[in-house]
Amino acid sequence: QPAKAWSGRFSEPVSDLVKRYTASVFFDQRMAQQDIRGSLAHAKMLARQGIIAAQDLADIERGMAQIAGEIERGEFAWNLDDEDVHLNIEKHLTALVGDAGKRLHTGRSRNDQVATDIRLWLRDAIDRILALIGDFQKNLLDVAEANAATPMPGFTHLQVAQPVTFGHHLMAYYEMTRRDAERFADCRKRVNRLPLGSAALAGTSYPIDREFVAAELGFDEVSQNSLDAVSDRDFAIEFCATSALLMTHLSRLSEELILWMSPRFGFIDLADRFCTGSSIMPQKKNPDVPELVRGKTGRVNGSLISLLTLMKGQPLAYNKDNQEDKEPLFDTADTVIDTLRIYADMITGIRVKADAMRGALTQGYATATDLADYLVKKGLPFRDAHEAVALAVRTAEGLDRDLPQLSLAELRDAMVHVPGTADKLADDIFAVLTVEGSLSSRNHVGGTAPDQVRAAIARARARLG
Ligand code: ARG
Repeated sequence: QPAKAWSGRFSEPVSDLVKRYTASVFFDQRMAQQDIRGSLAHAKMLARQGIIAAQDLADIERGMAQIAGEIERGEFAWNLDDEDVHLNIEKHLTALVGDAGKRLHTGRSRNDQVATDIRLWLRDAIDRILALIGDFQKNLLDVAEANAATPMPGFTHLQVAQPVTFGHHLMAYYEMTRRDAERFADCRKRVNRLPLGSAALAGTSYPIDREFVAAELGFDEVSQNSLDAVSDRDFAIEFCATSALLMTHLSRLSEELILWMSPRFGFIDLADRFCTGSSIMPQKKNPDVPELVRGKTGRVNGSLISLLTLMKGQPLAYNKDNQEDKEPLFDTADTVIDTLRIYADMITGIRVKADAMRGALTQGYATATDLADYLVKKGLPFRDAHEAVALAVRTAEGLDRDLPQLSLAELRDAMVHVPGTADKLADDIFAVLTVEGSLSSRNHVGGTAPDQVRAAIARARARLG
């Protein structure tokens, strides 16, 4: 059995099973480049402070450059015996450069080291995600712009409610993902604080310069409590919560794409490259990608719950439980990144079936509210107008017609039991009852009038730059 970095006080080695059970190298090697960056900044600081010699720093830098290259080329021999990414790299460094490698860990612990690595890794992931949200939004805006005036039914309770434009509907998802981007950017502020210098839990007696290390690594500030810094993972939980919300938004959009692609709606078609067929039913084209986005949202929610549960019973400070933070965290970032990449492409691959959207608007009395508003503008109280229009809908339903297909006389007749309606109905009602009339009347910030949708898209484009 090769000796472990900590095995001096032990009288027997761990079993192979324990070794495998406690090792993290097969998943935390993903943080190798961050681990090296952190070590180089630490070593530079140690040399500046006179804690190690300039020659030690030079040796460490030379060794680390070689190790970084080996890892990049896939030549590094990761070893289970060395437990985790940190000890693997340190051990190899010592093999390459001798005593200088053994001096690297001065004034440092794996506890503040791993916390630093995760934060560096997550900061990169957040930056990637923010860029990808921007890509998705840009493509979404293109589709929304092309459909700023394309009418479709807006739904509540999945029943036809009022006309909206498809562009307006898509812009709802722009707003959701805009808040998601705000949350990721805000989460990044709390990720970007340096734990290094906290050592195992209490700080260190060496004359370290934490501000220097923070500046070297691009951290905005240094952590203010060593116990907290080595044991806190709430930044990771926050990242997963933010990711769960983003995925929830994309899951809702996915559900809509799936519904819209069903022939019962027939509002859109998805490009073939996002669909798969059936091995038994030759006619099938299934929306697999949006279905998987919906499914993977469950997986991200699960990771959030994993991390919350991991943390809830831990006393201060570091506990090995925290090693379990990485797989859910990596998996969440991977899932979010892949989902955004695929969505940016998928959204431009939507073929809009405008006729079907408009056709659906002639079923379900989508302009009933417009008729009520018309009566209100002529002086009827809203509750009376609501009642009168409900009666008109009943009449239309009995005749199997849409509201604009009733004559003025039929409308008056239908509402006769609500006093004061007959004299308010005139020929101009038919302009109000059209889909275009309904849409263009909702002409305020946040409304579905095509001009407002175009203005919202322009504001969004300005924000994206
Ligand atoms: N692999 C460990 C982790 O992921 C590194 C820190 C180990 N610290 C310790 N005291 N055993 O958390």
